[in-house]
Amino acid sequence: MQHRPYTTFGFFKAAIAISAIAVLGLAAGEWGLGLPVFLPGIALLILAFILLSFRIVQLIFKFQLSRYHDTNQVESLLWLYSRFTPSVSLPAMRDIAGSPDFLKVLADHCYRYQPKVIVEAGSGVSSIIISEVLKAEGSDARHYALDHLQKYAALTREKVANPGSKVLYAPLKEYQIDGKSWQWYDISTLDGVEQIDMLVIDGPPETIQPLARYPALPLLKDKLSANAIIILDDTNRPGEQRIIQRWQKEFGLEARPLYTEKGTYVMGRKGAVG
Ligand SMILES: C[S@@+](CC[C@H](N)C(=O)[O-])C[C@H]1O[C@@H](n2cnc3c(N)ncnc32)[C@H](O)[C@@H]1O
Repeated sequence: MQHRPYTTFGFFKAAIAISAIAVLGLAAGEWGLGLPVFLPGIALLILAFILLSFRIVQLIFKFQLSRYHDTNQVESLLWLYSRFTPSVSLPAMRDIAGSPDFLKVLADHCYRYQPKVIVEAGSGVSSIIISEVLKAEGSDARHYALDHLQKYAALTREKVANPGSKVLYAPLKEYQIDGKSWQWYDISTLDGVEQIDMLVIDGPPETIQPLARYPALPLLKDKLSANAIIILDDTNRPGEQRIIQRWQKEFGLEARPLYTEKGTYVMGRKGAVG
């Protein structure tokens, strides 16, 4: 079967044909049947074309942006594979899983800052990448990845091959923060874990409550080391932007945005964010 590449020309041809038929119909109505439809009809057609043009320009911008991000994902993956060869097959990335440009940020921070204690809220491909980086470097860092769903904790655990990395099933638990009730991972799973140098926040999902990731800092702030780096993903979402504003106000954090496809912020106490 011959493959026909998709182009938008067919759409434009159809739009012009439909418009021509509409103009003929309007002319027939006005001068054949004596109905006063020609001018209002033409005005409606022009309006439809203006709206359509706006939509097309919008789609062109969207397409160009996604092309930029697609290229970035390929480059980020190439960068990751140039730094280490994964000892396990990596699961699908993007969508609900971490995107390569976010994973590159995580690996880069591991190489640059050599964190000794790493905690992740929301396990997945990010946990596998961090564990592979630590394994390839022969690092003695301790790495804990929390997941509120047993199924995903188990799936990730299967692929975490570094002895210092642990995937912990931490079901959601109710906490009171400043008199308000919040759901967050059961942090008793982190008993004995102190001086966290790198805190990665990519869970829980936003569907569990408004500002779902806000409790991370109120609950873990006393476990952070003085120069801890906090990496938050999905910051293109208004909820995450609100969380950053609250953390900056409440904990005096410095925040640096990184231009990844889902938006990523690196945060820390003043002077800690490079
Ligand atoms: C944003 S995801 C975490 C992503 C993780 N940091 C990564 O890089 O893949 C948040 C949570 O979604 C859940 N999750 C992971 N994969 C999923 C899937 N394919 N469908 C539904 N939920 C999933 C897990 O419980 C995970 O902790």
